[in-house]
Amino acid sequence: MHAWLCSEPTGVEALAWTELPTPTPKPGEVLVEIRAASLNFPDLLMVQNKYQIKPPLPFVPGAEWAGVVHAVGEGVNHLRAGQNVACLSGTGGFATHVVAPAAHCMPLPEGFSHVDAAAFIMTYATSHHALVDRAQLRAGETVLVLGAAGGVGTAAIQIAKTVGAKVIAAASSKDKCDLCVKIGADAVIDYSQENLREALKALTGGKGPDVIYDPVGGELSEAAFRSIAWRGRYLVVGFAAGPIPALPFNLPLLKGASIVGVFWGEFAKREPKANAAMMEELAHWYGQGKIKPVIDRTMPLSQLPAAFAHMASRSVMGKLVLVN
Ligand SMILES: NC(=O)c1ccc[n+]([C@@H]2O[C@H](COP(=O)([O-])OP(=O)(O)OC[C@H]3O[C@@H](n4cnc5c(N)ncnc54)[C@H](OP(=O)(O)O)[C@@H]3O)[C@@H](O)[C@H]2O)c1
Repeated sequence: MHAWLCSEPTGVEALAWTELPTPTPKPGEVLVEIRAASLNFPDLLMVQNKYQIKPPLPFVPGAEWAGVVHAVGEGVNHLRAGQNVACLSGTGGFATHVVAPAAHCMPLPEGFSHVDAAAFIMTYATSHHALVDRAQLRAGETVLVLGAAGGVGTAAIQIAKTVGAKVIAAASSKDKCDLCVKIGADAVIDYSQENLREALKALTGGKGPDVIYDPVGGELSEAAFRSIAWRGRYLVVGFAAGPIPALPFNLPLLKGASIVGVFWGEFAKREPKANAAMMEELAHWYGQGKIKPVIDRTMPLSQLPAAFAHMASRSVMGKLVLVN
């Protein structure tokens, strides 16, 4: 097998395409031939040693992938060789093969492509947990999605529309805003051209959005929070822009508003039953055509460094998927 090996987490340049012995699955594990692996922002942070989870070295990055079961370990009864599966294993996906706990692999229903499946779990689970569980978003409410053309952003637009909310999508270019309209946003703000606060005032009749979904951080966050509606919920999802914003405490007081943390991975660990029910609902929505990953492009896995460069330069719209 081959894999992108990270021996020093000093950045993408240090990754090396390496031949490794193909592992044999231990009891409870499966060996999977990877067909597709998607790029998530935490993959980039992990190889730069900037992510909260620091895998022991060396490691193979690639949190999320889909493929075909090649061999099963002792005691694995619910999966068989030849079956299509998807998995969010945290690491191991940027390779031709991976060994994973069978219990973590989701058998794919007929018609669920490897590319869609590899781009599904992290973004939709994060955005569902954020909007439906943490923010208790209701039909008729208005939600502002920042970085709306990105991975979690596009998922957030589709989930908010499925719930019956009005979506204002905000992003940094006209092309990104056009994509957001195409996938269901009711209104858009290009924050490279428009003043976010004035645009929000005009779009909400001065009331402000009820829920703000923020995977970007940086300078946008305080401006967005200052526009939030009375009893608003501000979802802290991530800091793709780099700086972690700080907020004066008088602002939530003045708006009777809440700052709500979102950590889907920890939720899945601490509340596995609630997470499983959520994943079932998401698979059902996918089957009904209510949600579908927006695939920016597919690239051969051998081009991983170029794929990371696209993500770092903010040029990915939706999801970039690497294929074998
Ligand atoms: N809390 C959780 O449970 C959870 C789960 C998954 C991901 N996340 C976090 O959510 C964030 C987004 O993840 P993602 O996979 O959706 O990433 P993504 O597809 O790259 O989207 C991030 C968006 O952030 C914006 N951005 C602003 N400054 C940027 C910069 N300097 N570099 C890159 N992007 C920048 C870009 O939109 P514009 O160009 O339109 O501004 C981009 O589309 C990450 O911080 C990630 O760690 C959190």
